[in-house]
Amino acid sequence: MYNEEKFAAVEDNFIHIHGALLTDLGRIVDGEKHVFFESFPRFARILSKHTEIEDRLFFPALEKRAPGATRIVDLPHQEIEDHLAKLLIWSRGIDYPGQCQVRERLMCFERELEAHLLEERRVVMPAMMEHFSAAELWALDGRIMEFCSPEFMQEMMPWWFIHMDLAGRVAVAQNMLGGVDPDFVPVLCQWISDGLDTEAWLELLARVPALAQGPTRVEVQVAF
Ligand SMILES: [Fe+2]
Ligand SMILES: [Fe+2]
Repeated sequence: MYNEEKFAAVEDNFIHIHGALLTDLGRIVDGEKHVFFESFPRFARILSKHTEIEDRLFFPALEKRAPGATRIVDLPHQEIEDHLAKLLIWSRGIDYPGQCQVRERLMCFERELEAHLLEERRVVMPAMMEHFSAAELWALDGRIMEFCSPEFMQEMMPWWFIHMDLAGRVAVAQNMLGGVDPDFVPVLCQWISDGLDTEAWLELLARVPALAQGPTRVEVQVAF
């Protein structure tokens, strides 16, 4: 049965972060050679971390409650890592085969990634909501930071917000504000605002006023 709070606790990972990954990859696929060289390494770091958090945090927890529930992701996760390894080497200019071949591989990777993310949303996301309480889902969500260094968070947070639509930005900002230590909120707000231009930041702030606790509060008050 649909439960609004459980949905709120899992939508970040299975809808909005997946959406951001596909948006950025689509931009790289459509981009010129320099976009691949500039953007692919960061995309690869963020996707690898997403996969690592699923493999080390979310999916082992689900497997304990529902053995076999995450079996469909084992092979795709391995295939994603294989694609990333090859494309990363090329993005560093090593054995670069030319942009035609890079684009072909990127398009194949994009199709596989899209299918994988849809499967996770179709099969794993409902299983998470079925087998955990809302409090347990929030507790799992709250452990994500354990897997990310501050340097990595500083890179990933603006990236998330650049590549999400407004609905995603609102949902993720609200969830993060609710999950972090209050002392950390100003830093979090700064990282979020780093990813957005003024118009997008103000649009988000109008929907999530608690973001005004950050160090950008003075600027925002002036802007209003
Ligand atoms: Fe995955
Ligand atoms: Fe995923």
